[in-house]
Amino acid sequence: MKRAIGFFDSGVGGISVLKSAVKALPNENFIYLGDTKNAPYGVRSEEDIRALTVNCVNKLLARNIKALVIACNTATSAAAQTLRETLTIPVIAMEPALKPAHENRHGGQIIVLATAATLRQQKFRLLMEKYGEGAVLIPGNGIVELVESGVFEGEEAAKCLHGLLDEALKQKTDSIVLGCTHYSFMRKEIENVVGKDVLVLDSIDGTVRQLKRVLEREGLLEKDDSQGSVEFISTAGKEAEKYMQRMFEL
Ligand code: DGL
Repeated sequence: MKRAIGFFDSGVGGISVLKSAVKALPNENFIYLGDTKNAPYGVRSEEDIRALTVNCVNKLLARNIKALVIACNTATSAAAQTLRETLTIPVIAMEPALKPAHENRHGGQIIVLATAATLRQQKFRLLMEKYGEGAVLIPGNGIVELVESGVFEGEEAAKCLHGLLDEALKQKTDSIVLGCTHYSFMRKEIENVVGKDVLVLDSIDGTVRQLKRVLEREGLLEKDDSQGSVEFISTAGKEAEKYMQRMFEL
């Protein structure tokens, strides 16, 4: 029996990371747990996010996972440190792609779109000090709710994005950092709104590369090369699990 890699997010957002991980590691088993019942996390307090995350991670640990991917920037900021201090399995977490945004700078600004909770936390502040001089921080209010309800393209999505971004886009912009895994599902609409001269950056591929590196280093890569499996668990029950499956198949 293969030991699975556990994935966690507040809802469906982390499926954007899971998809890339399944492509990179097709023979691994994955268990994805989304805390749909308590999403969105981004409007909650740090303590609350940490407690909810630890509670969900315990459910994954009960399934004997061999590594944990926190496929959620908000939960990473609030709980990654605590989890790394207490768990004996490797913990892979997200970081907004500010470094590549910094490297791509050519006279314009960087926009960071993330949840309010991510933007105010210490972990992000430290990243900003290193790579984010003058970056414009925008809480992506409303996007997570839209994605959770199946809206990631079209008029309603565009309206929400214009409301959030139009003011900042009046200034020359080099890149926009998607600092929340849900936002990747709106990538096409975000690209339309920001225009072709603005680079859209997420941290999905970097996170998956890190997962692979860590599994290799720890001798945890699956040796059995038969195709792996993907299982979805939602704290909101079966309908939400079916929705997760659909998002995975998109
Ligand atoms: N997907 C999450 C993130 O990457 C959190 C969204 C939320 O629940 O607010 O930040």
